[in-house]
Amino acid sequence: MSDARATLLNQDFFQGVGRIRDASVDLIVADPPYGLGKDYGNDSDRLSGAAYLDFSRRWIDAAVPKLKASGSLYVFLTWQNSPEVFSYLKTRLAMVNEIIWDRKVPSMGGSTRKFSSVHDTVGFFAASRDYYFDIDSVRIPYDAETKKARTRSIFVGKKWLEVGYNPKDVWSVTRLHRQDPEREEHPTQKPLEIIERMVLASCPAGGLVLDPFMGSGTTAVAALKHGRRFIGFEVNPEYCAAAHRRIARFGKRAAAPSATGARAAAAL
Ligand SMILES: C[S@@+](CC[C@H](N)C(=O)[O-])C[C@H]1O[C@@H](n2cnc3c(N)ncnc32)[C@H](O)[C@@H]1O
Repeated sequence: MSDARATLLNQDFFQGVGRIRDASVDLIVADPPYGLGKDYGNDSDRLSGAAYLDFSRRWIDAAVPKLKASGSLYVFLTWQNSPEVFSYLKTRLAMVNEIIWDRKVPSMGGSTRKFSSVHDTVGFFAASRDYYFDIDSVRIPYDAETKKARTRSIFVGKKWLEVGYNPKDVWSVTRLHRQDPEREEHPTQKPLEIIERMVLASCPAGGLVLDPFMGSGTTAVAALKHGRRFIGFEVNPEYCAAAHRRIARFGKRAAAPSATGARAAAAL
């Protein structure tokens, strides 16, 4: 698919990245293979150790020049690789946050020789001190009960009480189960809610979002849903086709009469 707002390419990122002008991207959302041996219909998740680090350096070197000076990059990783990849990223960009995605995995026995790992590690990096960041767009409203409880004079008239609080760096969002209506045929699809927060906070309206490893197109949906432009790459033709279908579905629902459209869009 290619229209004024979204370009979804069935192409290797390393081969296609030259299509993008340097310093033209507001936000990169990178969800690369983790090196855990998942079957993406290719060998891309079979790298480990030095080979994984080499792959990480290569995509970072290719992607970072595309960022504007006000741009940001989020990268999903596992705890096994995040220290080395963060160290390398810090040579190119400023680290803003380490975000823990708590997948809200229920307790079911689990590991007996170590603590069960139930999180993904997300790095948030910026190209300069003047990076774009709109906290108001991602604030979490206080419920009526909490607001009522904050009646002491020190709370009265406080903006944060009215507009909601700043999300913290632990994001508890349930992973997508097979039965989830949002779920596509992709083994490591990320919840839309997480990517929406990144897009809203770190890309201005009308700005350009790049996803080098698009998978089922979650970042594309988040970008279009919030009026941002998108370019993404995916080597597996089936995942790329799924992303096209997802975008087409989203487009139809978004064009439907407002209340229905908003509900349908939220369900994507
Ligand atoms: C972790 S998944 C991304 C999942 C995605 N965030 C979603 O929500 O569906 C990584 C994807 O990168 C793709 N991939 C691996 N190497 C690639 C490359 N060099 N260029 C483009 N895509 C690649 C894999 O086929 C896989 O679908």
